[in-house]
Amino acid sequence: MKTSGGDDGAKRRAGESAADRIEDGQVVGLGTGSTAAHAIRALGRAVDAGADVEGIPTSYQSRQLARECGVPLTTLEEATPDVAIDGADQVAGFDCVKGGGAAHAREKVVDAAADRLLLVVDPSKESGILDHPVPVEVLPDATPTVRDSVADLGGEPTLRAAERKDGPVVTDNGNLVLDCAFGAIEDPSELAATLSAVPGVVEHGLFVELADEVHVGAESVEVRTR
Ligand code: 5RP
Repeated sequence: MKTSGGDDGAKRRAGESAADRIEDGQVVGLGTGSTAAHAIRALGRAVDAGADVEGIPTSYQSRQLARECGVPLTTLEEATPDVAIDGADQVAGFDCVKGGGAAHAREKVVDAAADRLLLVVDPSKESGILDHPVPVEVLPDATPTVRDSVADLGGEPTLRAAERKDGPVVTDNGNLVLDCAFGAIEDPSELAATLSAVPGVVEHGLFVELADEVHVGAESVEVRTR
């Protein structure tokens, strides 16, 4: 499983803390990444113990893990998530950058559809200001024009390369990812809206004002609620 670094014990504490919030009968958006995976495993144990929950996966990875853990699955066509649990690459307040696993397009759809979004992170993800490169999923044919638009906005776009395949990362949706460094992002809402308006951008990894809780897996888990 891909991970963006950080202490696995801290990730486990954060993921399990959020999974503890899930109530019987709820539909849960299942985020992607190594921290959200701990929440999925905890939900699997709850299901084994008799809990009645269903999951809506945000990626191939979270679907496979949920199946392995015995979490029953549903879809956005059949249910609305009561809550979503998802990781992040960087968090400032209740805003974050996601997409380290290139799953941010489906993550945003499911996370935004949920009544509540619980972010789960280890302490290394916390920051005073967002300055992590923003992953931008693009239609393959639009890569040159989106790259130019990002440069016009003052960003430095880098096509994400695959690690065990020649060429670029191809998302679960068949698209490519530009990691766009903007330095410190003073106004995440404005940048989010500007990127969304660029033709060929499928989705970007700035999640602004979507999170309701942040579970930080310090020695004792810190939960911030909006
Ligand atoms: C995937 C994501 C992940 O949630 C993010 O990269 C954090 O991953 P991890 O929990 O492994 O550090 O956005 O697209």
